[in-house]
Order: sequence, then structure tokens, then C-alpha cells
Amino acid sequence: MPATRSRVKWLVRHGIIRGVLHYAAWRGEVIARLSADERARKNPYRIYAWCREQGPVWQGRLAKVAPHHASVSAILRSDAFKVGLDVEAVPRLMRGALMRSDGRIIGPIDPPSLLALNPPDHTRYRKLVAKVFTPRAIAALEPRVQAVADELLDDLETRAAAGETVDIAVEYAGLLPVTVIAEILGVPASARDDFLRWGHAAAPSLDIGLSYRDWVACEQGIYDFNEWMYAHIERLRRDPGEDLLSQLIAVEDDQGRLTDLELVATAGLLMAAGFETTVNLLGSGTKVLLENPDQLAVLREDPTLWANAVDELLRYESPVQQTARLAAVDTEIAGVKIAKGTFVNVMIAAANRDGGVFEDPERFDVARPNARDHLAFSAGVHYCIGASLARTEGRIGLQTLFDRFPDLELAGEPVLRPTRTLRGYDHLPVVLTPRKLAA
Ligand code: HEM
Repeated sequence: MPATRSRVKWLVRHGIIRGVLHYAAWRGEVIARLSADERARKNPYRIYAWCREQGPVWQGRLAKVAPHHASVSAILRSDAFKVGLDVEAVPRLMRGALMRSDGRIIGPIDPPSLLALNPPDHTRYRKLVAKVFTPRAIAALEPRVQAVADELLDDLETRAAAGETVDIAVEYAGLLPVTVIAEILGVPASARDDFLRWGHAAAPSLDIGLSYRDWVACEQGIYDFNEWMYAHIERLRRDPGEDLLSQLIAVEDDQGRLTDLELVATAGLLMAAGFETTVNLLGSGTKVLLENPDQLAVLREDPTLWANAVDELLRYESPVQQTARLAAVDTEIAGVKIAKGTFVNVMIAAANRDGGVFEDPERFDVARPNARDHLAFSAGVHYCIGASLARTEGRIGLQTLFDRFPDLELAGEPVLRPTRTLRGYDHLPVVLTPRKLAA
């Protein structure tokens, strides 16, 4: 794309809002601080607590804010709200800049990605994807998840025996979900590194106010992924495999099969949603468990609690911290009037520490009886389609790691990811010191 056009697109999509956010953060506006202030990124939980004190729905300077469990849940389930931009409300001159140039290259939250569609289109795609992503198909993946976890940890065993420091975020948490999602999409293991690179490059596309440099890197990742995926779909059409993408290519309803664009959109979302989130569950999960040895001891005493521990981790350090909705009509939530066209910042991570629902919410408790009431997988029509796969990967991934390396220790400063919507760690140095050496 010529440099001037690329600058204009960035300006409309991110540059203007970036300027507004930085100015508002400088003026102390809390929601802007979450996006533009480094200290708030490191520890957003004090800000979330303040947001909850302001009420279930309130007017921030930039958008309405919903930080309570009840208001977040109500908005996500309400058909008075929709996803995506109201393109008609954007000045005509700026509309072109919001679209990608040729309509062929699309990002994880561009239509026809499920996350950017509303009923009835959403209903149709979701039904087609659900035909393939069945509970039985996901359950059948469980032995593969275990095998991948074992293989990755086998590779680390020699390094552990030598007492070397291992970056568990990169060398384990980052590889387990991408390997699983690559198998789901029928992607050969040889392309896994490219997949990781594209996924990491595209992850910031969920944030607002990106710098020009980050945006260019993100667009390149999306472009490279799309081009590769078109060719891959062509290959699978000629020579289908056992994978779920081959099945998705073949499913049809009374309107026919999914087009190439729809398939690339779905594959892109599955890739982005499938590992850019679970990597954070595994990385943050490892760190939180190391910081809470009493809770690890509870899990050693009663390993049946691992499934609940994963839900508690999703509540306590939600990999997706927030989402957004647009009021499609005039409506009301928790007694607060919300006019048609209003943007609402839906604070999933704040809702997950709401003391009205979770007793002593700042405490990490693997035996918490209602841990599963979190909203980390959203709610309503966009409820995460991969929730049970993510839970399986979290449980097997973390339990296997701590079973094989019970003396695992942090060996350096963890490095948070720069993204805001997605929360997790880029680097988590540890020494694994396996059981046989520790004995
Ligand atoms: C810990 C891991 C995960 C978390 C925290 C997570 C979270 C979420 C959230 C919050 C949404 C909805 C966003 C909104 O309502 O605006 C979502 C949607 C989605 N997720 Fe996940 N996800 C995870 C793992 C996965 C996996 C493993 C897959 C697939 C393999 C997946 C596929 C999807 C898809 C396709 C959607 C769109 C559903 C729709 O719009 O109908 N996710 N996820």
C-alpha cells in the first residue's frame, strides 16, 4: 500500500483515537489510562475496583462503562446491543479508510468473522461452525492435547536437568495452543512457526489506538496469514484431511457452502481466538500458581480440583479483559438509560472481581465454589465457541507442567505483553528442576 494511503488509514483507524486517548490519560481519565498508561497496564485491578464503585453503568468521557458482573452479563445477553462499528454513522470520507483495500484480506474482527457479525448473519455462520466444532469433536482432541503437552515437556527435560533457565511463556505456553489449533486447521507442523509469527503480529488488532509501527506490523501479519490460508483452503478442497477445517469446507445449509472469504475469516478467527487467548491462560496461570504455593499445595492434595482451578484462573486473570458493544436501539441496563448508537466498554475482567458475586474477590482460591460463574468466555450469542477446548488445554497444560516439575521456580522478571484487551505474559523465565533431581 502506498505510504500516504497507509498513513491515512492508520490515522482514521488508530491515530486520531490514539491522540484522544493519550490526551485523556494525561488528564487522568481512568478508561483512557487503561489504554495509554503503562502503570495502569501493569496493574489494572485498582482501576477496575474504582470503576465498580461508580456503579453498574456510567458515562466515561469516551464511552459508557459497564464494570459490574450483572451489567456486563445483561449487556452481553441483550439483543438491544450489537457488535461492530456503525459504518453509516462514520463520515463518508472516512468510511473507505475503515475498509481493507480489496475486500479479500480481513482481520480477526472484520466481517464476516463471527465476532464482527450480528444476527441473522451471525446465526447462520455460527450454526455452520457448530456443526464441526461439536462437543464430541472437542472431547476427541483431549488425547492429542495431552500428547502435545508431553512432547513439549520432553523437549524441555534435558534443559531442565542441566539447570538451564527456560522461558515457559515462549517454549511451552506459546507452543501448546498453536500446535493444537494448527492441527484443527489441518496446517502442517512445518508452518507452525509462521503461524505463531502471524498470530503474534495480529494480536494487537483487538486494541484501539495502535502506534503506526505496531499497526503496520499487525496488517502485515494479517495479510501474510490470509494469503497462506487461501492457498491452504484450495489444497484442502482438492485433498481433504481429517481436520475440522476440511469438514468446515464441506458443510452446507440451504444457502450452500461457505465461500473462500468466509472460510478464511473463520480460520483467521479460530487461529487468533484459539491461541492468542489460551497462551495467556497458561502463562498467567503458571505465574499465579507460583505466587500462591498454598493453592498449589491444595491441588497436590486434591488433583480433582484442577478443572475448578482453571476457571478460577480465568476469573482472576482474564485473558480477554474487555470487549465492546454498540446500543442498536434506545435501551436501559440496571436502571440506566442507554441511547441508540452509544458505545459501551464491557469490562469483563472488572466483572470477574465483583464482590457482589465472588466472595473475597481479590483472593485466588482454587476451591472457590462459584469460580465457573466468571464471564471470561463472554455470554450470549458470541459466547466463546472454544471454551471447552480452552478449559481442556488449561487443565492438561498446567497440571502436566506442575506434575512433571513440582519444584518449578521463577528465575527472572516476567514480562507482560504490550496488548491491553488481551492480558498475559510475553516472557516468563523459570527453572524446572525436575523431581528426580530435587529428590
Ligand atoms: C482461555 C482461552 C479463551 C478465552 C479467554 C476466550 C474468550 C473469548 C471471548 C471473551 C469471546 C467473545 C468476545 C465478545 O463477546 O466480544 C470469544 C469468542 C470466540 N472464541 Fe474464544 N476464548 C478462548 C479460547 C478459544 C479457543 C481455543 C477457540 C477456538 C479454537 C476460540 C474461538 C472463539 C470463537 C470462534 C469466538 C467467536 C464466537 C462468536 O462470535 O460467535 N476461543 N472467546
